[in-house]
Amino acid sequence: MTTWLFGMCTFWLLMVMVLAQKNFNVVPAQTFNQRTGLKTDCLGSYMRLTVDKSLALGNQVEFDALNGSQIEPLTSSLAAKCGFSIDSDPWGNYRVFASLLNCFSANEDDHVFDVDLRVRVHGVKAEQDVFEVAKTCHYDQWAPREVLCTRNYMEVSVNRLPEEITALRRRPVPRTQMFDQWTNTVPEAVTSRYNIWRMVFFTPTQKAMVLEDALRTGYGVTTTRSRLVLRSGYDLPETYVENVNGVPMKMIRVTTYFKKQWSVTMLDTVAACPTGGLSFTDEMITWNFPRFNPLMSSVETSLLGMFMGIDGKQIDSAQMTARGYVLSVVEDQVVMKIPMGGPDGYYKSHAVNNQYHITYNIEPMLELLWSEGGMDATRYKVLFPIKTPLMPRPPHFVDFTDAEQRMFDVLLGPFLYDTELVNITFSTGVLTVAEANARGINIQEQRFQNGSKAFRLQVPFSDAFVVRTQVDLTVTVYTLHVTFGFMILPEYTPFSHTASVDVTLRDVILPTMSGTCDEEKFYIVISFGNLGKNFNIMMARGDMTPDRRAEYDIKENATHMSLAVPFLSSDVVFELMYPSSLRARLDVLLWEPINKWTLSDFSLACNFPMTMTECFSNGTMSALAVKVESVPQLVPRQLTLRDPSCKPKFSNDRFAYFSFEANRCGTTRTFYDDVVMYQNEITLGNGLQVYQQNKKEVPASPPDPEYHVTMSCFYMLNDTQTVAFFTKPRENEPLPETGFGELQVVLRLALDGSYSNFYVKEDYPVVQYLRSPLFFEVALLQSTDPQIELVLENCWATLKEDWNSTPRWDLVVDGCVNLADRYETVFHPVIPNSVPYPSHLKHFEIKTFTFVQNDVVFQDQIFVHCDAVLCDSESDGICKRRCPSPMPLKNEKKVRREATNVQFLRTPLSSGKIVLSSS
Ligand SMILES: *[C@@H]1O[C@H](CO)[C@@H](O)[C@H](O)[C@H]1NC(C)=O
Ligand SMILES: *[C@@H]1O[C@H](CO)[C@@H](O)[C@H](O)[C@H]1NC(C)=O
Ligand SMILES: *[C@@H]1O[C@H](CO)[C@@H](O)[C@H](O)[C@H]1NC(C)=O
Ligand SMILES: *[C@@H]1O[C@H](CO)[C@@H](O)[C@H](O)[C@H]1NC(C)=O
Ligand SMILES: *[C@@H]1O[C@H](CO)[C@@H](O)[C@H](O)[C@H]1NC(C)=O
Ligand SMILES: *[C@@H]1O[C@H](CO)[C@@H](O)[C@H](O)[C@H]1NC(C)=O
Repeated sequence: MTTWLFGMCTFWLLMVMVLAQKNFNVVPAQTFNQRTGLKTDCLGSYMRLTVDKSLALGNQVEFDALNGSQIEPLTSSLAAKCGFSIDSDPWGNYRVFASLLNCFSANEDDHVFDVDLRVRVHGVKAEQDVFEVAKTCHYDQWAPREVLCTRNYMEVSVNRLPEEITALRRRPVPRTQMFDQWTNTVPEAVTSRYNIWRMVFFTPTQKAMVLEDALRTGYGVTTTRSRLVLRSGYDLPETYVENVNGVPMKMIRVTTYFKKQWSVTMLDTVAACPTGGLSFTDEMITWNFPRFNPLMSSVETSLLGMFMGIDGKQIDSAQMTARGYVLSVVEDQVVMKIPMGGPDGYYKSHAVNNQYHITYNIEPMLELLWSEGGMDATRYKVLFPIKTPLMPRPPHFVDFTDAEQRMFDVLLGPFLYDTELVNITFSTGVLTVAEANARGINIQEQRFQNGSKAFRLQVPFSDAFVVRTQVDLTVTVYTLHVTFGFMILPEYTPFSHTASVDVTLRDVILPTMSGTCDEEKFYIVISFGNLGKNFNIMMARGDMTPDRRAEYDIKENATHMSLAVPFLSSDVVFELMYPSSLRARLDVLLWEPINKWTLSDFSLACNFPMTMTECFSNGTMSALAVKVESVPQLVPRQLTLRDPSCKPKFSNDRFAYFSFEANRCGTTRTFYDDVVMYQNEITLGNGLQVYQQNKKEVPASPPDPEYHVTMSCFYMLNDTQTVAFFTKPRENEPLPETGFGELQVVLRLALDGSYSNFYVKEDYPVVQYLRSPLFFEVALLQSTDPQIELVLENCWATLKEDWNSTPRWDLVVDGCVNLADRYETVFHPVIPNSVPYPSHLKHFEIKTFTFVQNDVVFQDQIFVHCDAVLCDSESDGICKRRCPSPMPLKNEKKVRREATNVQFLRTPLSSGKIVLSSS
């Protein structure tokens, strides 16, 4: 019983916690005699005190008996010994049954009883509220024998007075006075208190004790004016169990000997209280009580009355009918039937092995009145608390989720009023109910009409607690895995319920990519779709590393990511080379790392300006070869020009740079009408070797495409006299992709026959005397190609600047001096070794003259013009022409020119104005 009280303490302290959480206020300290929430009833041989839960407000409640001015705290052992029975329900309502024959009641002639109790309500702190209850109950219906069975004690009281003493009872006498009179009359009879000489307990073997021993053991033994009272807890040593017609009964059987002056009288006291006899169905509680029990010494008993009560109080047959209670005698049993779940009892939650159970609890009372052989009536009362066995009530988990709302919506229940949801454990963490509601998870308690409740949980799919599983590229399974953490009040028993629900949706929006280029970079924008940044970015070099993230300047916001990849980055592949640009491609793959699904695949190819071939005026050419995607085996350093000894000046794993002069490395030279083309090729000199190695490793693979880059430089002349210039090819000319260069050819006037100094632009007009020599030079400047030969085709003089004007005078015709010229033009050979490239120069001399027509001197000025031709000194044609003595035929010349059309490059040249000095 001590344990029980301890349990109670724990229980109520926890209740305090719960209620404090719920912001209940603690009542202020009360004074004595505050009656609110206290109710007393006299119910026959006992008094019932009810303490309403509103009084205690969840606090610990204790009771004291008052023995005169003395306060006796009702511990469990004292309660059982002295006739008090205390019990409470889950809401905190208390009930105390106090036997009128309890140790402390003031008994007036066995029919007026004053019962004083104190109720102590512990506050949150040390203070406590104390309420005093004083109740006077009148009861004079005492049967010769009364037996009371409560939850914690059995009590039997019997009339102990012979008839003549019983007669005294009719004349009320104060107790003390009566006692004095008794002892005065028979002083020698007082062998001990109450004249009890000895007591013999039957267990069922006999065990004798003196009164003091019995009291010390915990039995309650008193006599009143007319009665002997014996009280025993159910657990005292001299009690025993007897199976009575299938019903276990706890027995206490004592014979008490009173010693009087000349005789010993003895009284038998027997109490027998049922501890079983219950059977249950889902709808009905059946309590069997043996019709004939050990209190009956003979079978000739007649049942005088049979009553039912609830919570210690008799109810009438109308009440019984209303509740569906049945009390009947069936064969040898008194049978009480109580429908399960009626309002006189209550349901209570329990957690056993983390499983939710409920019990139904009710405390019926059975009262029997019988007599044996027409006399010695017995009133027998059992207050019999019934708690059904645990009934499993696994809650239902109902899924109301509507996928379109993108919200899990589940209901778990039903639970009883006393079950509170405390927290929710998701796969990734625990939230209290308040925390969950604060973060957008909706948890509601739904009440049913019968007071039960269920918990509704709504969690958006987007919540981090929802587990998303990508089943395949477009199908997502949303899983809500929750463990509901509950507490059963007021005991604070925890239990949990785990449930899982999932929804499959085809709702994936995959990430997409788009891109642009400028002259240096690819710009890629990734739009995340609805999976977030749940992907890896892969390019030619593999997955994105932190270094490259920085290199590509990756930026992102909630929905997009952008990156800029320079076209020379190794993640870029080269597709094609053009003379002045490179076609490059960036491939970007987004993939999901867990299942290795490709989410998006994007390629962007752009032309980036880049000088691939350069043609310099001095004939030097440079070319850049790049490793293109189609020749994966290419090792740039192994590339060569036509002459395999011409290797790259510089190379790395993707580029080879060549620089070479026009007459070297197998460069070819081709003349068109007005263009000279130099050509070379970049090839994999040992391509065959690479191919064979490759073949050995992967026999089935097709041979690598040959790597073959033709590079051409076109040199062109324009018609501006003596001035160097760049040229461009004519529109729509079907030229291979190549570079263009400049050639500079000049016609210039030397100061003298040494051809070392020349008139410059600012010296014109040059003034000369008539018939003085003019030394002209035609020169190809800058070119370092010794195989180019400069040839003068035609030279002539005009009066006006326009080189097509008349009058005109031929000086050189088809490369030979004009034999018709009176002032014969003279060629001066260029002395080998006097200049680097003698074939690039022509020197000729004329005498200054003037145009005369009809003996009229037109003007004292001339302009000299030449058609210069560049040709390959080793090819036939103009370059190989020899001048015959006689003047060549005009038609012959024409034919030859047609034939050599493509073998040379012609450029018109003009001198500046030369003025004749008349003086
Ligand atoms: C009640 O008080 C009286 C007088 O103080 C005492 O003799 C008696 O033992 C007390 N009763 C109990 C049950 O303590
Ligand atoms: C209360 O009502 C609910 C819903 O109607 C039901 O599921 C539950 O079993 C009832 N509880 C009790 C104890 O009757
Ligand atoms: C959640 O509640 C259960 C049941 O009340 C309890 O046992 C458990 O300790 C709680 N978990 C956390 C993390 O608070
Ligand atoms: C994120 O970046 C993208 C592309 O750069 C842009 O279109 C979008 O408006 C940005 N969104 C926000 C929320 O800033
Ligand atoms: C030709 O000119 C280029 C550019 O000016 C120069 O790099 C190269 O060395 C020159 N080549 C020769 C043979 O002078
Ligand atoms: C010839 O070259 C000069 C100098 O580079 C240039 O200014 C001119 O436009 C060119 N003429 C033609 C017809 O290309």
